[in-house]
Formats: sequence, structure tokens, C-alpha cells
Amino acid sequence: MKNQILVAAIALMIGSFDNTGAIATAAAAETVPLTALDLKLMHQGWGQPQVDRSIREQPLAIAGRKFEHGVGTHARSALWIQLDGGSERFRAHVGVDDAAGGPGSVVFRVLGDGRTLYESGLMKTNQAAREIDVDLRGIQSLLLQVDDGGDGVSYDHANWAEARFDVAGARPRSIEAPRETPYLLTPAPAPAPRINGPTVYGCRPGNPFIYRIPTTGERPMTFSAVGLPDTLRLDPQSGVVTGTAPARGDYTLTWQAQNRHGKASLKFRIRSGDTLALTPPMGWNHWYAHYNNITDAMARQAADLMVRHGLADVGYQYVSLDDCWMNAAKHADPLRVGPARDADGTILPNRHFPDMRALTDYIHSHGLKAGIYTSPGPTTCAGFTGSYQHEAQDARTFAEWGFDFLKYDWCSYGRLVKGQTGLEVFQKPFRQMGGILRQLPRDVVFNLCQYGMGNVWEWGAEVGGHCWRTAGDLGFELDRVFDVALKNAEHRAFSKPGAWNDPDYIQIGYIGAARVGGEPRYCPFTPSEQYSFMSLWCLMAAPLFYSGDMTRLDEFTLNVLANPEVIAVDQDPLGQCARVLPLEDANFAMVKDLEDGAQAVGLFNRGEMPATLRIPWTMLGRTGPQHVRDLWRQTNLGLIEEAYAAHIPRHGAALIRVEQPRPAPPR
Ligand code: GLA
Repeated sequence: MKNQILVAAIALMIGSFDNTGAIATAAAAETVPLTALDLKLMHQGWGQPQVDRSIREQPLAIAGRKFEHGVGTHARSALWIQLDGGSERFRAHVGVDDAAGGPGSVVFRVLGDGRTLYESGLMKTNQAAREIDVDLRGIQSLLLQVDDGGDGVSYDHANWAEARFDVAGARPRSIEAPRETPYLLTPAPAPAPRINGPTVYGCRPGNPFIYRIPTTGERPMTFSAVGLPDTLRLDPQSGVVTGTAPARGDYTLTWQAQNRHGKASLKFRIRSGDTLALTPPMGWNHWYAHYNNITDAMARQAADLMVRHGLADVGYQYVSLDDCWMNAAKHADPLRVGPARDADGTILPNRHFPDMRALTDYIHSHGLKAGIYTSPGPTTCAGFTGSYQHEAQDARTFAEWGFDFLKYDWCSYGRLVKGQTGLEVFQKPFRQMGGILRQLPRDVVFNLCQYGMGNVWEWGAEVGGHCWRTAGDLGFELDRVFDVALKNAEHRAFSKPGAWNDPDYIQIGYIGAARVGGEPRYCPFTPSEQYSFMSLWCLMAAPLFYSGDMTRLDEFTLNVLANPEVIAVDQDPLGQCARVLPLEDANFAMVKDLEDGAQAVGLFNRGEMPATLRIPWTMLGRTGPQHVRDLWRQTNLGLIEEAYAAHIPRHGAALIRVEQPRPAPPR
């Protein structure tokens, strides 16, 4: 009591109580408006931060009250500010801007040195502004944050009105989000053999067959198989199976691998029938590494590196060309300019691709598969020859060249159907190509790329697709990465063997700046964000195509790309896309049922601070203690009662496998 009186007395001496009841501090030397800080460092979910205006560039207004000054932003928004103990107070009026045009809902937060100093609670459109007055004395680092209120970012136009600092020492300055030192979670592969990859593989009877048994461990290694159909042959040194797909039916076999350190085996099923891509296809696509610079030599090198870096040992198998392998009418590179087709209409590769058949032979000689790209329109997205009016001829050419995968990109087709409406407009070119591919004497996995139009997930499989992009190009915004995953989870009913929602490529490592011609540079995602990225893609059962520069794969990137236990979640034969379970503060879990009765569970921290996330077994429909394995670290965590909790870095993830303990064998 005595102390409280003393504090109040001191407060009266050095300042006064203001009308909000907070203690006013010693007269600060100056007031620094938030708008004086470098707002380019503010991250936000939509648009650019605005000075003295809302995100829609209107005067700032919250529930009819106008504010002359302040910052207009959009959830999810974060600005890191270095105070160095120099600021005494932060004051502002916060709320959803009146020009939002719809039902926005946000939460404003002020965090100082990792502690929450202020939280607005959920604020909605037309709700009166809340006044903030935060004591900053002694605080070194501040975070101003606007969360989306747990319902996505639509209409979340958020104002920090009249936001200002009372400064007595160092001036506040905005800073980049904290950097994170890369940390490796994936253990190096053991020298003894370990057979990875899917446990089921689809092919069409009578077509050429090629499959490289993904296996880590020291070479030389000897491979063998029990129960291999007699139309197939396994090369004992390389572990590559070739031949002709057997007659319609299911073939159960066992792969075996042996080296001087030990032996491994894996039960495997070849399903010869109508369906390809029984697990999500995995590989590399050139687009975000090489754009319109791709050459035959680069594709061959990617195949070499897929093997040399061990990516082929964990299941990556397609080496895929994207746009720009053909000719264009006009291009800065004269070697990419030339006739679209020869006299009989056969599509012509440009002069960077002297011999397509030789290229696919080279890729196949590694036991890998080759992918190619075209558009149903007259030109591709980058303005190169498309397949319009040559669809069947081009598909035949691709098969004769030896390609095993086709990405079919809408692009200029849109111009042909401008003004037309109805679902069939979206479906027609894909249905046509799907039908053509099905008749080819070659297994060609069909990848639809039309950015999700007409709810492609509802009909992609029906028109012959094996996977379909569900949205536009992904880009390098973390929120978009999370949002695409959450959206795909809404379409989870359509994910099944042979039919996959495609959220776009794995964009980590050295990768182009999301635009044509962008030189590859290191991706903007923090290490924890990259673990989240890969965990999300695997939980979604997404096609796993790396699209960065294979020549610059570093140890960290490889550790994210090539963890066989994480990939096993993606490749699980049940083919389920995880469902989302919301946790506190816009954090969430994703839960994927696996074929063997276990579940893969990801916990995702979307927050700006490390957090402990917890998932009780009851949320998974489980009772009693559960056996838990940490999949990134590949370690057993033992039997855990009731719930799993993990301390997770900012924007990071935990990925575990949860299973019922097996009854002890009878004595
Ligand atoms: C579109 C696709 C990309 C890529 C480019 C090529 O943008 O979505 O994945 O194929 O075209 O031009």
C-alpha cells in the first residue's frame, strides 16, 4: 500500500493522470507519428501501407469518426520497431476502416520485447474506434500487429489512427522481421539401405514402364524383387525397373536392397489399370529457376543433380520442362525465334533443344521421367507456340519424344473464349486433351493449369486430369502459402489417388523473383517458414515439384526437400488431404489420416512470436496414451498422455505421427 502511494506521488510529481486513466510519463521531448517511420518494412496481406489514408486511399474513418493522421493497413499486418528504450508511450485509435466495403474483422496487438502489451479483442466493421495508450518505458523492440480475426483477410482494412510515440531518448525506427539462423532437422541418411517412396504405383497395361526404387544408403547397393511381374526387369545395380506394364490387375511384390551395412525391404503394389499418379507426382519443374532461359543442358543437369543430391532416393522422379522450350515469333534470344511447326505441322522445339528424344532418353537413363508443357491456346503464357488446333498431333509428338507428364496451361486460350460462359467453356480444352492422352500408348500424367477457374477441383479428374492448380501463381508471400493450404483443405473431398489439388511448386532455395527473367536469389522464407511450407504441402497430399535452381541446392534446402518420413505423409496411399482444426490466435492444426490407421498432424504457428501449441488427443478422435513420432527429426517421442504440445518458432511448424500403441505381443 505504502509503495502504491509512493508510485502515485512520484507520478504526480513527474507527470499526471490523463483521461484514459493511464499514467502520463515525464514530458517527452517529442512526439513521433507512426507515419514518420519507414512503412516499406510493414508486411501486410493486401495492398501497400498508406500514410494518413485508409488502404483504399480514402480519408481514415472508423464508425463514422474521421481521423486526419495515421496508417491504413490490411490484415495480416506486422511492423517491427526498434525502440532501444527511447520511447515512453504509444497511443492510437484502432478499428476497421469505413471504406472496407464488407464485414471486416481484425484483432490489433502491440507486443513489447515478446510480451503482449495491448490486445483490442475482435473488432468489426462499424465498431467504434478503441483507444490505445501503452506504456513503453524500458521496451527495446516493439511489434504492431493486425490479425485477421480467424476468418481470413477479406475486408480487413485496419487503421492505426493518430498513432504516435512519445519519445524521450532514441527515436523509434522500423526494422526487418527478426532473422533466423538456419537449423537442420532432417537427420543425414544412414549408410544402410532404406527403401522410400510410395508403396503403390499405377500404370496402364501394355505401356512402357519405368520406375526407380527410391532408396537411401551407401552405393554400391544390390536390388532385387520378389513377385515382380515377368513383363518387367529390375536392374540390380541401379534399382531401376523397366519393361512393359503387365496385364490389368494388382501385383503385390517386395523390393529388397542390400549393401555392406545391411538390408532393407518394402512391400509394394503395382496397379495396372486406368489410373496413374496413385500418389502425388514428385519432381522438378524448371519455371522458377530458369524461366525463358531453359536449355537442354540445364534439364540434363537437373536430372544428374536429382540423383546426385539424393532427391531421387526419396521419390522425386519427374524432370519437367515448363514454358519456353518451343519457338516464339519474337524474343530477345534469337535462338528461341523460329517457325512454330514443320511442313507436316509437327511442333518444333527451339534451338536450345536440339533433340528432344535424346533428352528424354538421357533422363530415362537415370530411371527418371520427363515432363513437358504446352497450352490449349495458340500461344503459351510467355508467348511461345501453343497447341491450338494441333492438340492430338502434339500429344502424339510428346509421347514419341518420350515424355511422361504434360502440364497444360490455359494462357491464351482465354482470348478464344472471351465472353463465353458456362462450365463447359473451362472444361472443353482439358476434356479434349484428357481424352487424347488416355488413348496414347504411353503413360502421361496430366497436369491442369488454369488457376482454379470453375472450381476445377470438382471436375479435374472427370476430364482426365491427375492434378490441377487450384489458384494463380503462388508468389513469395507467407500468408498466401498458408492461405492456399487452408483453401485446398476446403477442397479435400476431391483429393484421392489419381486426383490431386495442386497448390503450385515448392518455392525454396535459390529461386527466381516471381517474374520472368528474375535471377534466382535465396527465397525470402525463414527456415521455420520453409519447414511449414513443406509440412503443409505434404499434409495436403500436394504434388511435390521443386522449382528452384538445382545447381545451387544447399544443405538446408535439401534437408527441407528430402526428409523421407515427411514425404511419406504426402505419398500415403490413402491419398487424403488433411483437415484443418483451428487453434487459438489464427494458429491451426492439420490432421491427415494415413492408410495404416495412424494420423499425421501438423501444428502451425502463424503468429509473430514463438508459441506453445497444444492438440489434445480428443480433437483427433483418440483416447488414451498415444505413440508419437517427430517426423522432421525422425525421433520417437514415446507414449504421450492426453495431448501433444510443442514450442514452435514464429511461423514454424511441428509435424508428428500419432498412433495407437500396439498391444504387447503375448508371452
Ligand atoms: C503460368 C503458370 C506458371 C508457368 C507460366 C509459364 O503463369 O501458372 O506455372 O507455367 O505460366 O509461362
